[in-house]
Amino acid sequence: MTDLTRLTTISDLRNLARRRVPKMFYDYVDSGSWSESTLRANTSDFESIKFRQRVAVDISNRNTSVDIFGVSSKMPCAIAPVGLLGMQHADGEIIASKVAEDFGIPFTLSTMSICSIEDVARHARVPFWFQLYVMKDHSFSRKLIDRAKAAGCSALMLTVDLQILGQRHKDIKNGLSTPPRLTVKNILNLMEHPKWCLNMLKTPRKSFRNIVGHVDGISDISKLSAWVSEQFDPKLSWGDVARIRDWWGGKFIIKGIMEPEDASEAIKIGADAIVVSNHGGRQLDETTSSISMLPSIVSEVGGKVSVWMDGGIRSGQDILKAIALGAENTLVGRSFCYGIGAHGTEGGKKALNILHQELDMTMALCGHRDIRKVDRSILKF
Ligand code: GLV
Repeated sequence: MTDLTRLTTISDLRNLARRRVPKMFYDYVDSGSWSESTLRANTSDFESIKFRQRVAVDISNRNTSVDIFGVSSKMPCAIAPVGLLGMQHADGEIIASKVAEDFGIPFTLSTMSICSIEDVARHARVPFWFQLYVMKDHSFSRKLIDRAKAAGCSALMLTVDLQILGQRHKDIKNGLSTPPRLTVKNILNLMEHPKWCLNMLKTPRKSFRNIVGHVDGISDISKLSAWVSEQFDPKLSWGDVARIRDWWGGKFIIKGIMEPEDASEAIKIGADAIVVSNHGGRQLDETTSSISMLPSIVSEVGGKVSVWMDGGIRSGQDILKAIALGAENTLVGRSFCYGIGAHGTEGGKKALNILHQELDMTMALCGHRDIRKVDRSILKF
């Protein structure tokens, strides 16, 4: 039995996830594209931002909660859409949505999930958000939108930076597929993860269940790379984005903005929020970190749209830095996935508790007790 009290950092959860999750799925979450320089910049640029310590200020009765689309969230952080979360742990998306719900922050379900929209909705007590990729077959995208509406999803997050898949060397070398192929190499690796296998044997949810049975013409549905190259729309334009916003008709988030001029386009489209994001360093490599682009994008939009960010958040300190630099919300992907992979529900809870405690205490040591009052003045320049 793992003593959860000894897991005190996201890095502890990552180490445990590396041991508990079969290699191809751990690597899928952990790695970035090509040289992984953007993946590294996302975290190292956070490290170079420093706080100003303040003393002799009342830091009792602290508040980390914010309002996101009219709903209170326990901290300015939502769960990012993560593909194949149900391969980090059996029924991963159902578990994750319940952890987020109990903790009091929004959960985003990926188009590339293992558990389907309907499945997650059946287990959820509060509405979750749905993330959409645009398919060549626009009628299929439209069907996904209708399914998300029918499931009661309260926001649509459109990802605009993955029309083609950035090359991730480890995924290719590992032969990433869902479920894993029963090759000798995979069988040997699965045998090293008996608990994961046992849990997987108990669930029917082992393939891309938003897609299987809903779309034809994919040569190999188990392969993310085949699915993306055959189905995703490389011609995606701002006109398509506007059409999707109209089909959805509710709260609309555009994820994957890295340049001020694209932020301006998103404002023209009428987005409710944009996410400054380089897809966690998984798409364009050798670009700048998301946190380094945040200030210029915040300044460009001048309050016309809510600006969020993701990429590189591995602690509550990182969330605080993003808020100080003008983000109204953040998304966490890997930090939360490591928890789910390490220990299912308990691991997911642990990840959120770690992030929250770090955020709360760091805010206090910077002399603040209300996250809504935090601004650039807590940082050293
Ligand atoms: C999908 O979103 C991925 O980054 O693999």
